Amino acid sequence: MKLILLGAPGAGKGTQAEVISEKLNIPQISTGNMLREAVKNGTEYGLKAKAQMESGALVPDEVVIGILKERIAEDDCKNGFILDGFPRTVPQAEALDAMGVEIDKVVEIFVPDEKIQQRLGGRRVCEGCGASYHTEFKPSKVDGVCDKCSGKTVLRKDDAPETVLERLKVYHTTTAPLKEYYDSKGKLVTVVGQEEVADTSRLTLEALTK
Ligand code: AP5
Repeated sequence: MKLILLGAPGAGKGTQAEVISEKLNIPQISTGNMLREAVKNGTEYGLKAKAQMESGALVPDEVVIGILKERIAEDDCKNGFILDGFPRTVPQAEALDAMGVEIDKVVEIFVPDEKIQQRLGGRRVCEGCGASYHTEFKPSKVDGVCDKCSGKTVLRKDDAPETVLERLKVYHTTTAPLKEYYDSKGKLVTVVGQEEVADTSRLTLEALTK
């Protein structure tokens, strides 16, 4: 199955992608995580992407499309994948079509902006493995320490309140038109993000069978 998870920053795409990935045994492909890894490793495109990511802007289409194309050509993607954070612009969606990728379903996770600001303010991510936590909704067992690799968990730079506002603006102007793009192809299903992660997961998995 080839899936796209669509939604505003902090709507829970990463959280749900992880659940579906385990359930369906297909890889989660997060362009955000791949870009953060490139920034951490100081690669050429990582250096270019750093300032854009930290300001809440999008990284140029050609950079992200290149990364994605290479990733989905890997062996583990043969039986499908979940795209988490890609496409984010209409040209990215068109590039995916041009690669001949037949998407089965696009799940939009809808969460109002006010709730998103609350969620991202409490999110903590592991500097080591990138695992995601929330101080209130999904705390790590030991405060500040990752359950998976014992790395340090920190607030992401782009989760600063003013940067979250910018990311939301970018989402509404540049990414939200993708809803119409996929709805017109009969592929869009919308799931309303719930208070409990497990409830959203149940609805998301149900949406895949619709
Ligand atoms: P990216 O990492 O993709 O960021 P994002 O879309 O802004 O998404 P997030 O990872 O912030 O949120 P999420 O929806 O995955 O939510 P999560 O599950 O963590 O991209 C970062 C940057 O990279 C971009 O700004 C851009 O610069 C660049 N980039 C990436 N892809 C690009 C592309 N294709 N084109 C151009 N540029 C690109 O959940 C959030 C929090 O809420 C967590 O703490 C979680 O525990 C909590 N939570 C989740 N679900 C629930 C629930 N049901 N109840 C309560 N809490 C919940």
